[in-house]
Amino acid sequence: MKNTIATIKTQKINGEKISMLTAYDYSTAKLMDESGINTILVGDSLGMTMLGYEDTLSVTMEDMISHTAAVARGAKNAFVIADMPFMSYQTSVYDAVVNAGRLMKEGRANAVKLEGGASVCPQIKAITEASVPVVAHLGMTPQSVNVFGGFKVQGKDEAAALKLISDALEIEKAGACMVVLECVPAKLAEYISGILKIPTIGIGAGAGCDGQVLVYQDMLGMFPDFTPKFAKKFADVGAEMKNAFARYIEEVQSGAFPDRDHSFKNDDDTDYNKLAEKLKP
Ligand code: KIV
Repeated sequence: MKNTIATIKTQKINGEKISMLTAYDYSTAKLMDESGINTILVGDSLGMTMLGYEDTLSVTMEDMISHTAAVARGAKNAFVIADMPFMSYQTSVYDAVVNAGRLMKEGRANAVKLEGGASVCPQIKAITEASVPVVAHLGMTPQSVNVFGGFKVQGKDEAAALKLISDALEIEKAGACMVVLECVPAKLAEYISGILKIPTIGIGAGAGCDGQVLVYQDMLGMFPDFTPKFAKKFADVGAEMKNAFARYIEEVQSGAFPDRDHSFKNDDDTDYNKLAEKLKP
């Protein structure tokens, strides 16, 4: 069954946790979809995990559209959310609506996600009024890494917690359909989840959120550059891949691969020396 904004909201009402993972390509999205994931986020984290940048700031609209379109082709049932990249919505409400529209029309996303609280409420309102569901993102918002001075837990003191609560209420009022809470103390995230009607999706925000999201390379042990504290490794696919790559290299070097089972046969009687004589003038 196709997950929609309505089915996801019903999950919150029924107390059923919402599952979300990031994906950036067709085959990974298809595997997740077949596993029964509720929602797939085409995160701008692809700047780091897929493109090798040190943060998300260099990701472009073209990057996001092409990866979102690939994921959408693989996701039959999952609800697909596309991140709006840095400076695709901060510059103006007009830019925000135009770029959200591109992610829906060209990327075939089901919703867009943008970072920030009260300051981006005009954008959330305008995009929603243009019939595009908006997922908000509060707490440690990676596009503001230079303002935070690093990837740090947010909402730790009373003033910061109050600002986060106020932002959560504001984005809901502006029309956001869901909110990601990143690197927020668990008790605060649980409180926010309790006062909002829209579902909260936590990443490093404890078990009190309505759902959870992880970057798939983190949960599969495929991203060796940096592993955040909250990223539980559910498998060591990175080690499996390295092992397979090493065996492949060994078999190519030894000549064990390709064997007969992995080669094409034709008429074994063909004498190619004789055949090639036909090319002589
Ligand atoms: O870009 C991303 O993958 C995200 C998640 C970390 C929530 O925004």
